[in-house]
Amino acid sequence: MAGVGADALHKPLGLLAELTHRCPLGCPYCSNPLALDAREDELDAATWDRIFREAAALGVLQVHLSGGEPGARRDLVDIAAAAHAAGLYTNLITSAVGISDKTLDALAAAGLDHVQISIQDADASSADRIAGYDGAFARKRALAAAVVRLGLPLTVNAVVHRANIERIGEIVDLALALGASRVEIAHVQYYGWALKNRALLMPTPEQVERAAALVDELRARHRGRIVIDAVVPDYYARYPKPCVGGWGRRSLNVTPAGKVLPCHAAESIAGLEFWNVRDRSLADIWASSPAFNAFRGTAWMKEPCASCPRRELDFGGCRCQAFALTGDAAATDPVCHLAPDHAQVAELAAIRTDAPYVYRRM
Ligand code: SF4
Ligand code: FES
Repeated sequence: MAGVGADALHKPLGLLAELTHRCPLGCPYCSNPLALDAREDELDAATWDRIFREAAALGVLQVHLSGGEPGARRDLVDIAAAAHAAGLYTNLITSAVGISDKTLDALAAAGLDHVQISIQDADASSADRIAGYDGAFARKRALAAAVVRLGLPLTVNAVVHRANIERIGEIVDLALALGASRVEIAHVQYYGWALKNRALLMPTPEQVERAAALVDELRARHRGRIVIDAVVPDYYARYPKPCVGGWGRRSLNVTPAGKVLPCHAAESIAGLEFWNVRDRSLADIWASSPAFNAFRGTAWMKEPCASCPRRELDFGGCRCQAFALTGDAAATDPVCHLAPDHAQVAELAAIRTDAPYVYRRM
């Protein structure tokens, strides 16, 4: 796999800090890896403090405190305070289960800038079934109200799939009622746990078509009241998404145990060598780690990407998806209609079952 010269090195803008893989919920599309990091391997708050300062020096502007459920960390407030002290715009990504009002007050006092709450559905019993946790929906409503009371900006994130795609209108209404300024309609991306559950989560082509038309209508109806983010789901797209804004180009992830990854699913690619922040500085890892340099730039690309005019727009799509579907992480993302393996995407999208979910559990 080819690397790139120093002149191609961009500054990262965003850091996803996966503070823990522990989570009370069991969402069947969880983006965490199948092999979850154990509690005893988690980085301590002092190491996160160092990571945030190194990230800011590297050019990072935003940190997303994520997991698992970050509320499972007893030292979450100290970690958020360290991110704020490093000068980073600090966003908490939470399931809401495990963040008490008292913790939220302390986080706000520590300088937290923004909260993103995931919701599983607009219907309470469906939401709790998808999350694999009774009462989760009620907790989310309560935390969202507390966030808005504190004057913190709120984003609602809803991962959509076959079980809730018919309620996108209700999900947007719920986000408005909760006081969110933004709602993300995020179609499932099939890596890790979602790949395991793909046939259970996959919407029909008709559902996807109706959803796209509805999102356009909702954007027009709610313009100026709420921002609605949505993209065409991978398996139904003509071109792939520019995943993570290009490999090793805009963002980095630190896992609970300290591995630094170019994207949240990178560990699913066999054969990549990841460096750990316990052993090296973030700047060293960003510039020189084999995993980051594996797919930087365009020199690693094969045809049809290598000579395609879109290669600097979508960077050949998603490396994790290319590996998951073809076994070759340097292949063109099969979602692209120009990819040699494109036909299998439609074949896989046609496989649907109503078996019980495989919930994500530690
Ligand atoms: Fe993007 Fe490659 Fe498809 Fe061109 S061939 S559109 S670069 S994925
Ligand atoms: Fe890893 Fe897209 S999720 S490159």
